[in-house]
Amino acid sequence: MDLYEYQARDLFEAHGVPVLPGIVAHTPEEAKAAAEEIGGGIVVVKAQVKVGGRGKAGGVKLAKSPDEAYEHAQAILGMDIKGHTVHRLLIAAGAEIAEEYYFSILLDRANRDYLAMCSKEGGVEIEQLAVESPEKLARVSIDPNDGIDAAKAAEIAEQAGFDAEEIPALAEVFQQLWTSFQKEDATLVEVNPLVKTGEGKIIALDGKVSTDDNADFRQPGHAELVDEQAEDPLEAKAKANDLNYVKLDGQVGIIGNGAGLVMSTLDVVAYAGEDHGGVKPANFLDIGGGASAEVMANGLDVILGDDQVESVFVNVFGGITSCDQVATGIVKALEILGDAATKPLVVRLDGNNVEEGRRILAEAAHPLVTTADTMDAGADKAAELANK
Ligand SMILES: Nc1ncnc2c1ncn2[C@@H]1O[C@H](COP(=O)(O)OP(=O)(O)OP(=O)(O)O)[C@@H](O)[C@H]1O
Ligand SMILES: [Mg+2]
Repeated sequence: MDLYEYQARDLFEAHGVPVLPGIVAHTPEEAKAAAEEIGGGIVVVKAQVKVGGRGKAGGVKLAKSPDEAYEHAQAILGMDIKGHTVHRLLIAAGAEIAEEYYFSILLDRANRDYLAMCSKEGGVEIEQLAVESPEKLARVSIDPNDGIDAAKAAEIAEQAGFDAEEIPALAEVFQQLWTSFQKEDATLVEVNPLVKTGEGKIIALDGKVSTDDNADFRQPGHAELVDEQAEDPLEAKAKANDLNYVKLDGQVGIIGNGAGLVMSTLDVVAYAGEDHGGVKPANFLDIGGGASAEVMANGLDVILGDDQVESVFVNVFGGITSCDQVATGIVKALEILGDAATKPLVVRLDGNNVEEGRRILAEAAHPLVTTADTMDAGADKAAELANK
C-alpha cells in the first residue's frame, strides 16, 4: 500500500526521524486554522495525492500568513494532479532550507536485498538525475540481515560525496529511516528532499512510503492507513464480495478459475485483441475453485459495472467444481442480474463433465451467451465482440 505524505510523516516521527510540524486540512478554513496553530509564520500548503510531481503541478505552495494559506488551500483543493483529485492537504511548517538532498531505501528484487540511494542533489526529479548524471547518485546495497548501521550509513553518505564533518548528522537520520523501513515492513522509503536547514539540522521534508501488504498480519496499525475513499470503487466492491479482482484498462472483461488460468487468459485475450482494433483485457478476476452461481453473479456484476467493458470472456476449467455446476452458475447468474446484464458473454468450458455443461448452456440459449470450444477461439470471439 502506498501512503500519503502526511501518513509517511507520522510514521517517520514515530521512529525518531526529524520532521516538521504538520496538520491535515480538508477545507480552506481548516487550512487557515492549521496555519495559526503552527504559529502563524510561514507554512507550506501541500496537496495530498499518491502521485509524484505535486510541486511542478502547482500542488505545493508557500504561504506567508494564515490568510494566504486559506487562499492556497482554496486553489489546491479539488485540483487534478495526473488524474488524482486533491481532497486533503498537509499544512506543514515552513523550513529554512540551505540544501536539498535525496535519500531512499527500496526493495531490490533482482538482487534479493535492499538498495539505498543518496544524492547531494535532491528536490529535483531523481529519475532525471539517475539518467543524466548517474555518478551523482550513490547506490549502496543493504544486506537485509545487517540493515543500515552507523558504518553503513556513513558509507552511503560518503559515496554520495558528503564531507566528513557532514556525515554524522546524516548517518543518524539514515539509520532512523532504516528503522522506519524495517519496523513498518516497507518496500520503499523515499525522502525527496531531505534538507539541511540554515542551522545545520537534517529534516525529512517530504516522504513517500510503500508498505508490503503481505506483512499486514503483523502490522495491525496499517489497517487504519487504508483510504477507502480513494480506492477504485470496482475493486472495493469486489473486495467486499471476497473476489480476487484487479481492474485493468481494456474492454474485454475476464472471469476464470485459478490464478494461473486467468493470467494466461489475459495474455491470450491481449494477443487476440491485436487483430481486433487493439482491444485489451479489462480486468483480472479469479473466482476460485468452488464457484457458485452467487460468486459468478457477483463477479459478472463487478465486471459489468466497468463502463469500459464491451464483452466478457468466461474461461473455466472444471475440476472439483464440474462444468455443469459452472454452467448452471452462469445461467443463474444471468437470471439474478436480469436487465443489468447487457454485454455479450463468450463462455469456454473444459474439463470435468464438460458435455453436460455445454448442454446446459445450449438449452438455456441465453441471447447474450456464445460458447467457444477452445481458449484461443473464445479469446478471439470476445475480442471481436468488444471491437464492434
Ligand atoms: N515544509 C517546507 N518548507 C519549505 N519548503 C518546502 C517545504 N516542503 C516542501 N518545500 C519545497 O517544495 C519543494 C517540493 O516539495 P515536495 O518534495 O514535498 O513535493 P514534490 O517533490 O513536488 O512532490 P513529489 O515528492 O510528490 O514529487 C521541495 O523541494 C522544497 O523546496
Ligand atoms: Mg518531493
